[in-house]
Amino acid sequence: MDSPFDVLGVDEDASEGEIERAYRERVKEAHPDQGGSAAEFQLVRAAYENVTSEDADDGTDIATEAGFTEESPRDYGVDPERDFRPWEESHVEYLNYAVLDDYGWSLGDDDLFERAADAGLDPVNHGEFDVAPGESLLEAAEDRGFAWPYACRGGACANCAVVVVDGDLSQPTDHILSPELVDRDIRLSCNGVPTTEDLQVVYNVKHLPELEDLRLPPYPFELAHADD
Ligand code: FES
Repeated sequence: MDSPFDVLGVDEDASEGEIERAYRERVKEAHPDQGGSAAEFQLVRAAYENVTSEDADDGTDIATEAGFTEESPRDYGVDPERDFRPWEESHVEYLNYAVLDDYGWSLGDDDLFERAADAGLDPVNHGEFDVAPGESLLEAAEDRGFAWPYACRGGACANCAVVVVDGDLSQPTDHILSPELVDRDIRLSCNGVPTTEDLQVVYNVKHLPELEDLRLPPYPFELAHADD
């Protein structure tokens, strides 16, 4: 029986920082794209939640406790009562953070998206798509052929971060962003689903200096597009 500490590979008296580092390392190893599996990935997440909760129990059989299987539904932190959506799909307008410097724009510009619309940017850098109910923003972008950045796909890094300029994106509780970053409308696209009918986001903001410490090395898919 593996305790949550065993799953993370840390001692029971590990510091918060040690647990955080171990989690980020383990979540990378456990990712299906890196030779792990969905069940292992979710097991690591459950272990992290367990040891960081106030009533951490080192005797827990975390696999049983978590009850995760390969078929476990994903939890995007959407409360069906609170986040009820009377519309079928959400409409997203996106802008690539990488072009802001080229045009002398900044995230604080009130007319950022008007400028983007007037600039004739190519569809990689600016455009629109719809997000189906239950789809995360990252999934929707990928389904439409875009290679938006990501790494863990599990709330443990800032590689998939976006800035929400208008509308809102759900934010599950088990994520790495500080309250300050959340207050600045930074969200994770891998596990965030739109909770408004319309949404404007700047994606690819992982290079913001304040997100530097929260980035993980990109996965091969992202590396393959690094020079795009
Ligand atoms: S890819 Fe790591 S939190 Fe989204």
